[in-house]
Amino acid sequence: MSANLASTRPKTAAAQHPGENAAALRPHAEQAFADELAALAAQDDRPRPARWRLSPWAVATYLLGGTLPDGTVISPKYVGPRRIVEVAVTTLATDRALLLLGVPGTAKTWVSEHLAAAVSGDSTLLVQGTAGTPEEAIRYGWDYARLLAHGPSRDALVPSPVMRAMAEGMTARVEELTRIPADVQDSLITILSEKTLPVPELGEEVQAVRGFNLIATANDRDRGVNELSSALRRRFNTVVLPLPESAEAEVDIVTRRVEQLGRSLDLPAVPDGMAEIRRVVTVFRELRDGLTDDGRTKVKSPSGTLSTAEAISVVTNGLALAAHFGDGVLRPADVAAGILGAVVRDPAADRVVWQEYLETVVREREGWTDFYRACREVSA
Ligand SMILES: Nc1ncnc2c1ncn2[C@@H]1O[C@H](COP(=O)(O)OP(=O)(O)O)[C@@H](O)[C@H]1O
Ligand SMILES: [Mg+2]
Repeated sequence: MSANLASTRPKTAAAQHPGENAAALRPHAEQAFADELAALAAQDDRPRPARWRLSPWAVATYLLGGTLPDGTVISPKYVGPRRIVEVAVTTLATDRALLLLGVPGTAKTWVSEHLAAAVSGDSTLLVQGTAGTPEEAIRYGWDYARLLAHGPSRDALVPSPVMRAMAEGMTARVEELTRIPADVQDSLITILSEKTLPVPELGEEVQAVRGFNLIATANDRDRGVNELSSALRRRFNTVVLPLPESAEAEVDIVTRRVEQLGRSLDLPAVPDGMAEIRRVVTVFRELRDGLTDDGRTKVKSPSGTLSTAEAISVVTNGLALAAHFGDGVLRPADVAAGILGAVVRDPAADRVVWQEYLETVVREREGWTDFYRACREVSA
């Protein structure tokens, strides 16, 4: 059964030509960082769990960044506590699955993709969780033309990404697990506890090959949408991804990601925009924390999450504005509209919060006059 499944698996571009596909709008992690992964694999002399491309140590280095013995620089993908990454990687080498939990925009999806890329060399065995995710997306479906013509057979079976990962000893990913209806979620229980997927129609099963594991992500904010059953939760090790601990760390994350995104969109270089990036991060943090940087003034928090991910997109959009309609340098006017859009989600309540912040904090702050004016202009 597993040989059959392996042969039906469509090869990704990465599997065919590592590092190629330069025209892809958004290359997979294993394509974008093929050079780093190859360098790590070549110099990694630590033991690797069955079917892993790298040792756990090298996987952690890939995520956190570092310099290899031959001088190759590995860029940090995740900026945050080292221990979190170590626990996540170690979990994947055990018989428990990994659940990445956190508020939106804390890099759960990002970390999941990079983990799968580093461990299995393929981050594409992915099930996107939604309220409409059917059981077939997690187990298997049927090619109905074949099913009707020849009855149930291996050829008529359409394996899910999870089934393929089991058959090949790879890392499967499930995004937004708690959005999936509870009964569909529970189809993961047998897979994760017995490491098998029965196919009653054929009187067969697909047994997971060593190397198989699963990374799920779930949003804290969605808690209660479809709460994980305790039976399922027990199959997971939960790792909570925190918000960046300091403004410095957050500026660092935003700068790195904006640089990467900007390069692929041919936007102007970031150093010119450092002051504005700092400002966006400061505004987001103050509104999120309900307190100004100096700890002196309390402010109200708006309803949105104001995540790092949103800060990244505000700055990226600002750079595009600066490039196409401005003088190529990121200015307050380029980020003002983006900030307003991120802060004011609820047109009534959030607008009041924003106006109050503008008048009590932004207006008084030294060096923020241009920004205050730009915000006034778009808020009007
Ligand atoms: N701590 C962090 N380190 C690196 N990148 C981060 C961090 N926090 C957020 N990001 C960036 O935020 C963006 C969105 O993250 P994403 O994985 O989609 O969030 P989530 O799935 O948690 O909602 C990604 O581009 C990611 O690079
Ligand atoms: Mg996500």
